[in-house]
Amino acid sequence: MKTLTVALPGREYEILIQRGLLDGAGEYCRKALPRAERLFVVTDSSVAPLYGARLEAALAAAGFSVAVHIVPAGEASKCAGQLAGLWEAMMAAGLTRTDAVVALGGGVVGDLAGFAAATILRGVDFVQIPTTLLSQVDSSVGGKVAIDLEAGKNLAGAFWQPRLVLMDPDTLASLPDATFADGMAEVIKYGCILDGAFFHFLAARPDRGEIMGEIEHVLYTCCNLKRMVVEEDERDTGKRMLLNFGHTLGHAYEKAGHYEKWTHGQAVAAGMVRAARLGERLGVTPAGTAKQIAALLAPLGLPVDIPCTAEEYAAAIGLDKKGAGADIRVILLERLGHAVAHKMPKAALLEELK
Ligand code: GLY
Repeated sequence: MKTLTVALPGREYEILIQRGLLDGAGEYCRKALPRAERLFVVTDSSVAPLYGARLEAALAAAGFSVAVHIVPAGEASKCAGQLAGLWEAMMAAGLTRTDAVVALGGGVVGDLAGFAAATILRGVDFVQIPTTLLSQVDSSVGGKVAIDLEAGKNLAGAFWQPRLVLMDPDTLASLPDATFADGMAEVIKYGCILDGAFFHFLAARPDRGEIMGEIEHVLYTCCNLKRMVVEEDERDTGKRMLLNFGHTLGHAYEKAGHYEKWTHGQAVAAGMVRAARLGERLGVTPAGTAKQIAALLAPLGLPVDIPCTAEEYAAAIGLDKKGAGADIRVILLERLGHAVAHKMPKAALLEELK
């Protein structure tokens, strides 16, 4: 088993990574949640038939009383209506302040269940069991939990660190290639921003089979990099912003496609290549970097260029008349493995993107 400890003051927690770990979930939850009697498992309609019964059996075998709540699969479940439904179901199940919520699924389930845990009874303990590559390397670690509003994604949320994160890489086997590739966009991002050697490790393993052969190392490396960032800047006011490499421009593509045309991973993939090209133009990023990044993304079927108009870029970076003089921090690469927050006027950014 690979183990990491996220050392936040007073809220230290472990990330455990091991094939088959789902069946050991009861034992590890018991250690992490010594006072809990009842566990409220939140999962979705895709994951429940695959892993719901196994998790329930593992938790029950460790002496927990378990309630399972299933939400419809998909981003639309990250909404106030589902959150209110969860609160009511938690109370109906008899959840108390010493009990805990368990999220079994991808980022939607983790964010929704985490926000419900952060708010029910003014906050109860929370365990993340992420089952997609994207949630294993990103959203399950670091404590950002949220729901979407009409006004935008992740706009109502909290920082609510889990008590434990359990990752069973075997759950990745059931992912469609496109969903696996979405997670790989974030995996490649870690190499770009924080670890050049990891970038080259990935470049030498261009397909899913090869990555799965080393998956525990891949998950460990990504989570360790995120751990270091979160320990330094839990509240996202400094170093944590580096995790947004490719996300500012990616956000423009997601928004322009009404969050339907492009998945988050696809938008981030194209956003990273565009940000590298931007860095090259500005003289921050060595020439040829964008090409190197594109060479890792393209074989996975990820887009490396998404057309976007100046108006769509402007809308996503918040450039309106009022904000015309305002600056933005764009995450750029000084080299592969080293990102910086580059401050520039929004209007100048837009000019460069034309
Ligand atoms: N997904 C970016 C962060 O956790 O800060």
